[in-house]
Amino acid sequence: MNHLIAPSILAADFANLQRDVEMINSSEADWMHVDIMDGLFVPNISFGFPVVKAVKKHAQKPLDVHLMIVDPDRYLKDFVEAGAYSITVHYEACTHLHRTVQAIKELGCKASVAINPHTPVMLLKDIIAELDMVLVMSVNPGFGAQKFIQHSYTKISEVKELSMNTNPNLLIEVDGGVDSSNAAQLLAAGANVLVAGNSVFSAANQPEAISKLKHS
Ligand code: DX5
Ligand code: ZN
Repeated sequence: MNHLIAPSILAADFANLQRDVEMINSSEADWMHVDIMDGLFVPNISFGFPVVKAVKKHAQKPLDVHLMIVDPDRYLKDFVEAGAYSITVHYEACTHLHRTVQAIKELGCKASVAINPHTPVMLLKDIIAELDMVLVMSVNPGFGAQKFIQHSYTKISEVKELSMNTNPNLLIEVDGGVDSSNAAQLLAAGANVLVAGNSVFSAANQPEAISKLKHS
C-alpha cells in the first residue's frame, strides 16, 4: 500500500489553527494527527474536546487521535463524538487493553495501540490480531520536536514480523522525530503511516515538507 502522512497539529500555531488545518486540507497529507496529553500519563498537557471539535469543523481529512492519557476508557465516546476516525490508546495506560480495543471498535472507530520506547513489541502478541493499527513511539511521548530514537527501526520490523500471519493488513504508524532524513528507512522497516509535527510545521514551505514525506 501507499504510505500515509499524518501531520501532528501539536506543532501547529494554535492562534492560527484554522489556517494550519486548511494548509493540511490542501496538502498531500492523508490524516491529521491529534495529540491528547493529560499531564499524568505524560508530563505535559495539550488540549481537550473544544479544540478537537473546532479542528473537526474545518478538517477535510480523518482525525487520528492519539490519547496519551491514563484510563482512556472514560473518554472514548467523547472523542468519537468530537470527530475521531481512529483512536490510539497506550499499552502502558490500559489495564484491560482487550476490553478497551473492543470498546473503540464498538463505537465505530479504528482501534490502535501505542507502545512507548521501553515497551517490548512482543507484549502485543495476544492483541495484535484485533488491531487496525500499532503506533511505535520513536520518542518518549509528551513533547514535540524531540530527537528520534534509532532503536525504533528494529521495533517497527518486529511489529511487521509479529503481524505478518495474523494481521497482514495492520497499519504501522511511527510517531516522534520523523523527517525527510529518516522517512525512507522507516518505510523500509515496515512503517506505513508517518506522523510528523516539527518537521512539517517548522518548514518554510509546509505543504512541500508534507509532499516530501509522501514521496519518500
Ligand atoms: C509526542 C507526540 C507526537 C508529536 C510528534 O508525544 O505523540 O505526535 O506531535 O512531534 P514531532 O514530529 O515534532 O516529534
Ligand atoms: Zn502523537
